[in-house]
Amino acid sequence: MQAWVIGNWKQNPATSHDVNALMDDLLTAVTAEESTRAGTAKHCQLMIAPSCIHMAAASARLQGSSVLCAAQDISAHSATTGAYTGDCSAQQVTDAGAIWTLIGHSERRQYHQESHDLLVQKLDNGLKQNLGIVLCIGETQAQYDAEQTFDVLDEQLAVIKELLEQQANQQSGQQSAAPSDVAVTLSERLIIAYEPVWAIGTGKVPTVAEVSATHKYIKQTISSFAAPLSTVSVLYGGSVNADNADSFAADSMIDGALVGGASLKAESFLAIAEAFNRAKT
Ligand code: PGA
Repeated sequence: MQAWVIGNWKQNPATSHDVNALMDDLLTAVTAEESTRAGTAKHCQLMIAPSCIHMAAASARLQGSSVLCAAQDISAHSATTGAYTGDCSAQQVTDAGAIWTLIGHSERRQYHQESHDLLVQKLDNGLKQNLGIVLCIGETQAQYDAEQTFDVLDEQLAVIKELLEQQANQQSGQQSAAPSDVAVTLSERLIIAYEPVWAIGTGKVPTVAEVSATHKYIKQTISSFAAPLSTVSVLYGGSVNADNADSFAADSMIDGALVGGASLKAESFLAIAEAFNRAKT
């Protein structure tokens, strides 16, 4: 299976000038790497998620390259337009060049109180605009210490189940796609990113065995919602860097990485991608 390495730039860099410099480095490194690999298969898809204000410029620069562009978030209130000050809709980020969007990042859950219902709406809005969705989930340090990780993940993954149920209900009145078709569509447009909150930006990481067992649990859980979801990629995020990427990449349950800090330097971001490219042959 192809791996994914996604750079979550968060509220960085500070200026358009710095975005351009990062894009220069990234595109130079990607082009050099592709010419070295010439003809050999690529096993890792790269994607970056710039902040909304830099998305159009960044995605324009990615035209013709193999790197995709994602949004960091979309509006829950409308998939298109409306009186929602400060929001960017799925339609708007798509127009600016995003093919995917993150939703439910722990920083959104923590600083914007994002709830289950809100995330079901975001998932629905993203799918309405044909965006791929990277659903971020993960437990806090206190929940990890209390051995509640799987319970927390059950709650967070329930947004997928609810979306499937909602769509099946909507469609039972219309003669359109069968519920299994909805699950097939979702399986092609969904990635789960498991990010323990206590590992994000801290330099602390769970063991590969812990991540592997958790990913196995996530895969089993979403497959129990609908069989087609068994093919959904599950990425690990939280202090992934050029030094630890090989060990995560070597595990068959870890289908890629969501990278924050290390994605802000082309060299470390590409080193992580290369680790997954080597491992997932
Ligand atoms: P980090 O962030 O790699 O800086 O820990 C990961 C994330 O928040 O997606």
